[in-house]
Amino acid sequence: MLAPDSVLVIRATADTVVRHGVEITGRFYDRMFEAHPELLELFNRGNQANGEQRQALAMSVAAVAAHFAGIKPVPLASIVGRIAHKHASLGVTPSQYVVVGRHLMAAIGEVLGDAATPDVVAAWDEVFWLFACLLVAEESRLYERAGSSFSRPLTPHTVTGVHRETDDVTSFLLEPESRVRPHSPGQYVSVAVELPGLGRQIRQYTVSSAPGEPLRVTVKRHRAGGDRPAGLVSTHLHDVVRVGDRLQVSPPFGDLALPAGDGPLLLASAGVGATPVVAALRHLAAAGTPRPITVVHADRTPDTHPLRADLLDAVDSLPDASLVLWYERDGGPGTHAGLVDPALIPVDPDTHALLCGPLPFMRTVRRALLDGGVRADRVQYEVFGPDAWLGADAPSHTAS
Ligand SMILES: Cc1cc2nc3c(=O)[nH]c(=O)nc-3n(C[C@H](O)[C@H](O)[C@H](O)COP(=O)(O)OP(=O)(O)OC[C@H]3O[C@@H](n4cnc5c(N)ncnc54)[C@H](O)[C@@H]3O)c2cc1C
Ligand code: HEM
Repeated sequence: MLAPDSVLVIRATADTVVRHGVEITGRFYDRMFEAHPELLELFNRGNQANGEQRQALAMSVAAVAAHFAGIKPVPLASIVGRIAHKHASLGVTPSQYVVVGRHLMAAIGEVLGDAATPDVVAAWDEVFWLFACLLVAEESRLYERAGSSFSRPLTPHTVTGVHRETDDVTSFLLEPESRVRPHSPGQYVSVAVELPGLGRQIRQYTVSSAPGEPLRVTVKRHRAGGDRPAGLVSTHLHDVVRVGDRLQVSPPFGDLALPAGDGPLLLASAGVGATPVVAALRHLAAAGTPRPITVVHADRTPDTHPLRADLLDAVDSLPDASLVLWYERDGGPGTHAGLVDPALIPVDPDTHALLCGPLPFMRTVRRALLDGGVRADRVQYEVFGPDAWLGADAPSHTAS
């Protein structure tokens, strides 16, 4: 609990800090990387360059401060879960919180100037450490459960297969050299690669196989376009990594979970967001589940649709599954043309939904679900980047 004096300070300064949030976190990263260049290998350079990580950090701290100060409640467990899973997949250590806390408070001081009185800095420091304690505790539980630790978060895996799925999407089969706890459908692994001249970079990839099957990740190549450079890790994986190579990979993490029971499910994906949906469907098909399942996928064309054959096979083998496909072009009979039309998504108000794809796609599907009477906490999602929905009006990461 935040001390009563700090509650008053946070209430008085929350708007100012939120207004300057991205500037504060920007200064914070600059300071921290200058003092600790070794941390550049832990953080995602792409997210630093496009500003997404700054926004996710600022929004999560602001949302949690508002929660602690009684301004606006947020789904705290869900926010802590999402961040802790990501941290544990990267090997974040408790002592790194001291570094982050020091530079974050200094950045607040720099940006707020005279407004950053000792009382103000002390109250924000208290928020930081309350949040940090929740994260450290959850991360320690996650390391324990995964049988990993922050001193050895990634272990060697051999690439045993490389399969081209579409022009831009390739699957990699990864065999751990030591025993790894099996994943649950929807979980991801962190994969580290050594980039010539740049050092190590780590990215997360959802496991696209079912539990019990060989570990498979399915990676979309981020091509250069306009001002955007080609993606560092996806390009390396596509162009350089071959069968027999070794990659450093974390155990599976992630709080996306298939709700248990026999109730209806809706699994909706777009583009490479197909990965958690295919893992879930293969798992459900292997279990022979009788539950009613609606599968929605949107893509540019059938040829750009990753893991399409896996999806069709799984849907065919399930006793009560239906498939609704949208292709912008060349869809052919039985598919819808153009972008997803929410009015055409079949919605059972009792459904649990799992969404994965670009934010506009997920917003459209979520709106259709809420309008159809589905409870907001039954809509889970995965964002393939820092989660700017965290703390905002977002669906839940965890099943109710
Ligand atoms: C939980 C989770 C699960 C995921 N699962 C999958 C999955 O199953 N399959 C999959 O393919 N991906 C998945 N991702 C995404 C994946 O982790 C990577 O983000 C993705 O592969 C891009 O990484 P990259 O290194 O190739 O691109 P990066 O180098 O990280 O660049 C990312 C984007 O930022 C742009 N960018 C970089 N620098 C700049 C700049 N200076 N200015 C403007 N734009 C810039 C790049 O053009 C690129 O489009 C997942 C992500 C998360 C968080
Ligand atoms: C209270 C303290 C902290 C908060 C509130 C916080 C918050 C966040 C958030 C919101 C994300 C994005 C999660 C997502 O949606 O995927 C994130 C990712 C990350 N965090 Fe933290 N974090 C904290 C401490 C730390 C520490 C101590 C480190 C280690 C130095 C760290 C390293 C990272 C890294 C490397 C990522 C992934 C970055 C990326 O993919 O771009 N964080 N954190």
